[in-house]
Amino acid sequence: MREARVYSEIVPRSMPLDEMLAKRPKGIIFSGGPASVHVDDAPSINPAVYDAGVPVFGICYGAQLIAQQLGGNVERTGGGEYGRTTLTRHGSSVVLTGLPEEQAVWMSHGDAIASVPDGFTITASSPGAPVAGLEDRERAIYGVQFHPEVAHTERGQDVLRAFLFDVCGCAPTWTNANIIDEAVGAIREQVGSERVLCGLSGGVDSAVAAALVHRAVGEQLTCVFVDTGLLRLDEPEQVEDTFLRQFHVDLVHVKASDRFLEALAGITEPETKRKIIGETFIRVFEEVAIEHSDARFLVQGTLYPDIVESGGGDNATIKSHHNVGGLPDDMKFELVEPLRNLFKDEVRAIGEELGLPEDIVWRQPFPGPGLAVRIIGEITPKRLETLRQADAVVLAELRRAGLERQIWQSFAVLPAVRTVGVMGDGRTYEYPIIVRAVTSDDAMTADWARLPYEVLERIASRIINEVPGVNRVAYDITSKPPGTIEWE
Ligand code: XMP
Repeated sequence: MREARVYSEIVPRSMPLDEMLAKRPKGIIFSGGPASVHVDDAPSINPAVYDAGVPVFGICYGAQLIAQQLGGNVERTGGGEYGRTTLTRHGSSVVLTGLPEEQAVWMSHGDAIASVPDGFTITASSPGAPVAGLEDRERAIYGVQFHPEVAHTERGQDVLRAFLFDVCGCAPTWTNANIIDEAVGAIREQVGSERVLCGLSGGVDSAVAAALVHRAVGEQLTCVFVDTGLLRLDEPEQVEDTFLRQFHVDLVHVKASDRFLEALAGITEPETKRKIIGETFIRVFEEVAIEHSDARFLVQGTLYPDIVESGGGDNATIKSHHNVGGLPDDMKFELVEPLRNLFKDEVRAIGEELGLPEDIVWRQPFPGPGLAVRIIGEITPKRLETLRQADAVVLAELRRAGLERQIWQSFAVLPAVRTVGVMGDGRTYEYPIIVRAVTSDDAMTADWARLPYEVLERIASRIINEVPGVNRVAYDITSKPPGTIEWE
């Protein structure tokens, strides 16, 4: 829906109907799902939704639910249809309008609709689905068995657009410019003339949130950037350059790397490292916050998936709504969350529209504890320098190969073992670097990236030639699970 520039929200089906309708939707879409309508506790919805005067569109399980709730028949076929299949249209249809008579669509279903409820017509079928499309124009209820939302369904987006524009009367007005205007208005209203504090991590979310708030309330914003000493090459300079010199934001750059490194001295156990970093971060941030104690608001880069994932209903709680840096409750800030309705790709588009540099907008995710969880064993300035240089080579080579945006995360790891090598005519006994590059949609699962051999070769050769103290490079080919993305 959002790709069609129409604002949409995901709500649990268990949401009371009046609450759903209070959002004044122009249309309601039932998603697909893995269940069968025949099992106990099959996901269902209050049937009053069909009489609410709001167009309904069901996809896959959603279409079967419509058929079943309104008096049609859904049968266990024993077979099912998974993957590409051919859809054949029958007669005229509002949502399939303009599509060819036959086309490739993506299906994933076991049950199939066998007969449609009174008032419905069958608009399409496929080899495994006698009813692959159904509609009741009078009541504005539509359904398709295939998945219009997946890329493999050739004209899928046209189907969604037909529902949005022709049935619901939506207009494609949810553009980046409008999103920014709306967010700016909302921030001004929330904040008034008060002061606002924003922690900048160097990552895309906090950067875009800060840029939005800055556009809204300008000089009322103070950004705090804590340099932990555990950041990537040139990261502090980049943040300072963007926010201080380009956006003229009031920026407090706390150079706390000595403090972090002192606290981490001699520590090798991963969880202890994480705890020390988290705590030190909070202490530093608190101290700055006290200096700026007249700030009543705190900007947070919460994204829409965080809200959906902690939203209850059918969306299992994958993680609790996180708090930037685990800020303590007694800080008494009111939160400003201008990105809470957006997905990561939308945040990136807004960042570009706001004029943030590509380096920041397209940065790969980076863990809060930074390079500390990529150095196995003790963290010292020397080891940090080694890792930082190797990491910069990995990133530069992926960028040069045009792969940076396809890869979820790519980085170097410095283990605590040494290996024997030969360089020139002499023996070396130095550290290896492990290169890690993964593809992922959400970091919950990940696969190792099948990088071209030439890219791997360039990375290995450059690291060994350019980074002192490294004599070997290995590539990590572990997926998640069983591994995790980071090494610690
Ligand atoms: P793992 O290593 O668990 O990481 O597969 C999943 C994703 O989370 C990132 N990560 C963190 N992010 N604070 C963060 O903000 C952390 O402590 C942290 N640990 C891991 C990791 O980079 C990957 O994207």
